[in-house]
Amino acid sequence: MSDAAETMTAYDLPVKVFETAELASRAAAGKIAEQIRARPAPGRCATLGLATGRTPLRVYEELVRNHRAGLSFANVVTFNLDEYHPIASTHPGSFRSFMKRHLFDQVDLRGDRCHLPDGSLGEAEVEACCRAYEAEIADCGGIDLQLLGLGRNGHIGFNEPGSRRDSRTRRVRLHPTTLADNARAFEDGKVPDGALTMGIGTILEARSILLLVLGARKARTLERMLGGPISRDLPASFLREHEHVEVLADRAAAAALS
Ligand code: GLP
Repeated sequence: MSDAAETMTAYDLPVKVFETAELASRAAAGKIAEQIRARPAPGRCATLGLATGRTPLRVYEELVRNHRAGLSFANVVTFNLDEYHPIASTHPGSFRSFMKRHLFDQVDLRGDRCHLPDGSLGEAEVEACCRAYEAEIADCGGIDLQLLGLGRNGHIGFNEPGSRRDSRTRRVRLHPTTLADNARAFEDGKVPDGALTMGIGTILEARSILLLVLGARKARTLERMLGGPISRDLPASFLREHEHVEVLADRAAAAALS
């Protein structure tokens, strides 16, 4: 991975710092493309965990460019971290709509291999849906590479502060900061108050994790995640217990790191 301005090793997770969000996003896309090209075991697909929000936008743009230059997604399976609940999958604010807009409809991914939790289910079906999601991940042999953004309050996926390290895919209530940060995707400003999310335990089972942190608004959270205690108060801090995590940041997000 080229273009890194520097690698900060003062923390138990090294941080690759890039001059700009564009360079950091291009590096993240390069790691994902590498994973797709790596020949998984014969007959196995490359299994990617995907994220939504503003952070991965330029990563997906770069992956679409890679596809147009010849990178095929025909042997790729994807699992998204989360989906709002309740929400119709066709709602423009749903994460499925986000993924179709920014990636799925622009590459040769097979429709039946793009998985997100189903946000349209009634309360009574949610539990079974979450268990089925975990089983689907296991049936695919687990996730090879999980892309993550960082919530401003330290969440990963929708595992809000207070989430247990051994949590699994489940329905969660969204915190006020999360509702505020995500309101832009809902014209009427009405963000669903809940979501179905992979748990922290689920995320930590990925064989490798790529955490991308961009922008000054994440600088304090990144510093707390790396320099503070490993705790439920900042769920992203549990990533420090994983053997294969790469943290990519732009200069603005790394500004509070020593
Ligand atoms: C949402 C998503 C997270 C994402 C976070 C940060 O809560 N569920 O996966 O990391 O927002 O979003 P952004 O990248 O827009 O800052």
